[in-house]
Amino acid sequence: MKQILLRTPATTANVGPGYDIFALALKEPYDEIYLSLNTTGKITIEIEGGHQNIPADIQDNTAGLALIELFKRYKSGHGIHVRITKRMISGAGLGTTGAAASAAVYGACNLLELTLSNNEMIDIARLGEVASGGSPHADNVAAALLGGFTLIKCYKPLEVLKLNIPEIPVVLAVIRKGQRTTRGFITYEIGEEKLKEQIARCSAVIHALHCNDIAEFGKAINVDHIAEPVRGAAIPKYKETKAKILEAGAWGCTISGGGSSIIAFCDINHQNQIASLMEKEFSENPLFDSIIKTTTSNQGIVIV
Ligand code: HSE
Repeated sequence: MKQILLRTPATTANVGPGYDIFALALKEPYDEIYLSLNTTGKITIEIEGGHQNIPADIQDNTAGLALIELFKRYKSGHGIHVRITKRMISGAGLGTTGAAASAAVYGACNLLELTLSNNEMIDIARLGEVASGGSPHADNVAAALLGGFTLIKCYKPLEVLKLNIPEIPVVLAVIRKGQRTTRGFITYEIGEEKLKEQIARCSAVIHALHCNDIAEFGKAINVDHIAEPVRGAAIPKYKETKAKILEAGAWGCTISGGGSSIIAFCDINHQNQIASLMEKEFSENPLFDSIIKTTTSNQGIVIV
């Protein structure tokens, strides 16, 4: 029986203005995914650790849905069993659904000896995201698979670019969202001025990363006219706390992926102070889970 154990990282998507386009991988936290081939011809899923009501039905699970697509495209008489060991909180904007989908596709390709390109694997894994947010966005799955900062260069056909970035210290206030997805409330009808600013900020993010200028990177991610106004309104004290986090010396602060976690990028000397500030301001929120101090990472999925 062929088997594989993978570690798949948390990712933070959007990174300010890059809604569904930008994401980056974090060193911690991560989930583990074990896959084994069998002869049943069926895909089965088991969830271990963290009682978070994650569906094990393959049609409702991001890893399951991605594997259905993989098996449809690359016919295989095999069955596969997937065991997801949860170490990350789901439903908090840490990219855990994408991490599972990417790892499932990567692991299955390895076991079945399929030589797919990264773009092909991401294109299949993103279809798994439909089980979570109803949309096949590729940002989280790309960053989980490749690590580093990923940007979608093109959706049709899907083409992803990975940029290696320095290890930037990060503080996360992990807060679960109050509903499964808030994507339905987001609008692209933001008007010409805001649209231009959004595109300008995306350009600034890429330029800052090419120049290794982390202060500029932080400044560029601070504005988002698409997701942040909708999701920020649902997080008590978000706007004023973001201002305090920036005053305390963070380079940048925004909402992580689909929320409601908040991510701040800062130098290592400010990390403890910003962590305390975030804890003080957000820990009364009943959906608050924890504060995580970590860094960005150029490492994507790894075979354990
Ligand atoms: N880009 C996605 C969103 C990431 O903002 O909804 C979360 O899945």
